[in-house]
Amino acid sequence: MIREQAIRDVKRALDIVERQWPELADGYLEVPLEAYSSEAVAALDRELFETSPLALLASSEIAKPNDYHVRMSVGRSILLTRDAEGRARAFLNYCRHRGAEPARGCGNARVFLCPYHGWSYDTKGRLTGMPLRDRFKDLDMGRMGLVELPCEERHGFVWVVLRPGHPIDVASHLGPLDAEIASIGAERMTYFNALPEEPLETNWKSVTEGLLEGLHVPFVHAGTFATNPQALDLDLGFFDAVGKHVRWVLPMFTRADVARIRATPESEWKPNELVAYVWWVSPNLTLAHEYYGLIYADLSPGEKPSQAVFRYGWISPILEAPPGLPSPEEMASRTAVAVRQDKPVWEGCGRGLRQGAHGAVVIGRNEPGLKLMHESVARQTGYAGLRVAKS
Ligand code: FES
Ligand SMILES: [Fe+2]
Repeated sequence: MIREQAIRDVKRALDIVERQWPELADGYLEVPLEAYSSEAVAALDRELFETSPLALLASSEIAKPNDYHVRMSVGRSILLTRDAEGRARAFLNYCRHRGAEPARGCGNARVFLCPYHGWSYDTKGRLTGMPLRDRFKDLDMGRMGLVELPCEERHGFVWVVLRPGHPIDVASHLGPLDAEIASIGAERMTYFNALPEEPLETNWKSVTEGLLEGLHVPFVHAGTFATNPQALDLDLGFFDAVGKHVRWVLPMFTRADVARIRATPESEWKPNELVAYVWWVSPNLTLAHEYYGLIYADLSPGEKPSQAVFRYGWISPILEAPPGLPSPEEMASRTAVAVRQDKPVWEGCGRGLRQGAHGAVVIGRNEPGLKLMHESVARQTGYAGLRVAKS
């Protein structure tokens, strides 16, 4: 994190912890149930997902030339490769013959052989061969490569726009968050898988809400994160809109520490021990500090408004844990446990959002991260149904 920003955040955290009261939004936000369940709103959301750069992989997942990885995103099979020259590329993983999926899983390969009739493609997506070539001798193979998607590698992630031919500019997409994401140093980190691609029976915005608040932790994750169920003050943090995105700052100290921190000269503060960060990068990416690494979560809408697909992992700057801390593999499996605890609750929300007759979800004044996320999505998609009720 950039030091000047982090020092400002520590000061703000000190105020909040000292008064034991969070920064509140200026009103309740009502999100009509249609925002989670109607086809019309889902179409607006899909447009956002199809035109935004999505961080589909950590760079370390295709670290070496000819590494590849197949992902599903917004209902599409995407083949990500690193070509022989080291450039990350993305393609729609659909054969130009009759549409089968030439690549599966992940690994290292120079050639992808379509399982249906044996057409083959290279890591640049070029059609390089087919059985019975003489039967297709009039076919211009140069025009029959896999459909390439706009792709850019930046700050340790491989970003893809799902719409062929659409511009991609990750720096301008990140906007004022670009330097902060750069400061994470994810290009030097290794990805540890927690959940490959988990289907969820609920709307993606409902899940995103669950990633931007800590209020559910004592209820849903009591055993996992060793919190005190009586401590219902997990809203002691603050949120800012940063361009289209949201930054959440969590104090990592208690009221008993405030005087000691204030008495220490600022130049001696170690902000990374005093505050933790969670970023929601519109529309699909959550990065959250946890111990010595970060959670890297990627959420996309499923085929129906009531479905989402969640991928969850952990990126680590080191391969062995510091003394006394869980290994990166254990961190990843711990986060998977947490998501499996969330899943039944989220799917309950999914049923409530589909079948509830209560009109709207109410977002509390102490849940400003959710408000900022909904407002950003509404601004970007043109959805006009959000209502702020002043208290
Ligand atoms: S569909 Fe791929 S070779 Fe026929
Ligand atoms: Fe959770």
